[in-house]
Amino acid sequence: MSEQGPFRLGVLGSGLGSNFDSIAQGCAAGAIPADITLALSDVEDSGILRSAKALGVPIRYIAPGKFRTKLDETAEAEYIAALQEAEVDLVVLAGFMRILKGEFLKAYEGRVVNIHPSLLPSFPGLEAWKQALDHGVKVTGCTVHFVDQGVDMGAIIAQETVRVRDDDTAESLLARIHDAEHRIYPATIAMIAHGEIELRGRRTFQKVDP
Ligand code: GRF
Repeated sequence: MSEQGPFRLGVLGSGLGSNFDSIAQGCAAGAIPADITLALSDVEDSGILRSAKALGVPIRYIAPGKFRTKLDETAEAEYIAALQEAEVDLVVLAGFMRILKGEFLKAYEGRVVNIHPSLLPSFPGLEAWKQALDHGVKVTGCTVHFVDQGVDMGAIIAQETVRVRDDDTAESLLARIHDAEHRIYPATIAMIAHGEIELRGRRTFQKVDP
C-alpha cells in the first residue's frame, strides 16, 4: 500500500469500460474508499481510456507487443513500471484481454483482481455467458476473484447469481450479467480497500469486527 493517502487503484481494460465506469462512480460517490490513479489499456482507442480521460483519470496506452493473448517481456515491464509510478495498491482487471504471467504477478502478488462473467469454476475462458447458455444451465452469474497463474482460477472473493430465462439470447443474458457485475465489482473493491478481505489458501473471508 502507498505510504500516505487513499488506497490507489490501477484499472486495466481492453474494451468498453462499463465496469471501469461503475468503479469510477463508486469512488466518486465515496462508496469505494479509493482513487483510480491509472487507467491502462492495450487498446489505444478503447472505451475505458475514453471514459477515464473524460473523468480526468490519468490514462496510459501501452502496446502489448508481439503476442496475441499475453504481454511480451518488454510490455510486461512497462505495465509494471506504469503501475508502480502510479503507486497502485490494487490492480483491477476490467475486461483486460491479456493473460498476466510470472513477473507481473510477482510484482503484484495477491493484489490483482478480475471479474468474470460466469459462476466460476464453471465456464472459464472466453464468452462465458454463451458457454453457459449453450450448456443449458438455469443459473449463471459473475465472479470476482484474485488472479493467479491459472486462467480464471484464483481464489473467489464474491459471486452474484443471474437466472437464465427461457427466452434469453446471449445478448439479453449478458446484459443482466453486466448489471450484476456493476453491483458486485465496486462492492468487492470497497471491501478490499477497507482491508476486510482475508485470503487463506483457496478461500477468502470477510473479516468482521469482534
Ligand atoms: C465483463 O463482462 C467482464 O466480466 C469481462 O470483460 C467484460 C468487460 O466489460 N472480464 P467492460 O469493458 O467492463 O464493459
